[in-house]
Amino acid sequence: DLRKPLAGRRAVVTSGPTHEPIDPVRYIANRSSGRQGHAIAAALAQLGAEVTLVSGPTRLPDPPGCTVRHIETAREMLAACEAALPADIAVCAAAVADWHVAGPSDRKLKKDGGGPPALELAENPDILATLSAPGGRRPALVIGFAAETGDVLAYATAKRARKGCDWIVANDVSPGTGTFGGSDNTVHLIRADAVESWPTMTKEAVAARLAEAAAAYFERI
Ligand code: C5P
Repeated sequence: DLRKPLAGRRAVVTSGPTHEPIDPVRYIANRSSGRQGHAIAAALAQLGAEVTLVSGPTRLPDPPGCTVRHIETAREMLAACEAALPADIAVCAAAVADWHVAGPSDRKLKKDGGGPPALELAENPDILATLSAPGGRRPALVIGFAAETGDVLAYATAKRARKGCDWIVANDVSPGTGTFGGSDNTVHLIRADAVESWPTMTKEAVAARLAEAAAAYFERI
């Protein structure tokens, strides 16, 4: 593809899980593979965008043509995103942990006979909502994801409004769909005034189509 419709545009993409430390050797995490987010970063770069991918720990190689910032925690992810601004496009595809451990131990917790430790959790920043907040540095096009298990369109539409983002890519992650860690995805693109339901395709194809939609958005404004 020799067309570079996103040349001169900057994009920041989040991908993968976050790891939230409990102590120096243990953490809280989730099963996100990072495949969809990494594919989106590559697809935006392919269309000519200058892409910063902010990635939690994954088993994936860095996608070609992107600057990659490797982080572990949600708070590090937010800081790396903010450092990548200004940007025209933000895509939040990461599965960010909702909570971190308040005051993680700086020594390995021991089984000392006193029973299991109680972990106190504290809320993580919402990166999508933060990037969507009005202000001079808000990217013109902010895209979030919504992984739902039933009533996908209703929940995702409500999420778009609550987060303040422009578009939501909604997918059904009910057990049996194979979306988590799988190669395919079935998504709906939810904008302010329209919902498009896309056929099941590979995560790379979803990424390419989303990057084309972003390019079309900038052609229109
Ligand atoms: O609230 P929920 O996790 O369902 O929203 C999903 C969307 O919000 C995804 O785009 C995800 O990347 C983003 N998100 C975020 N920071 C959080 C939680 C979710 O950017 N702390």
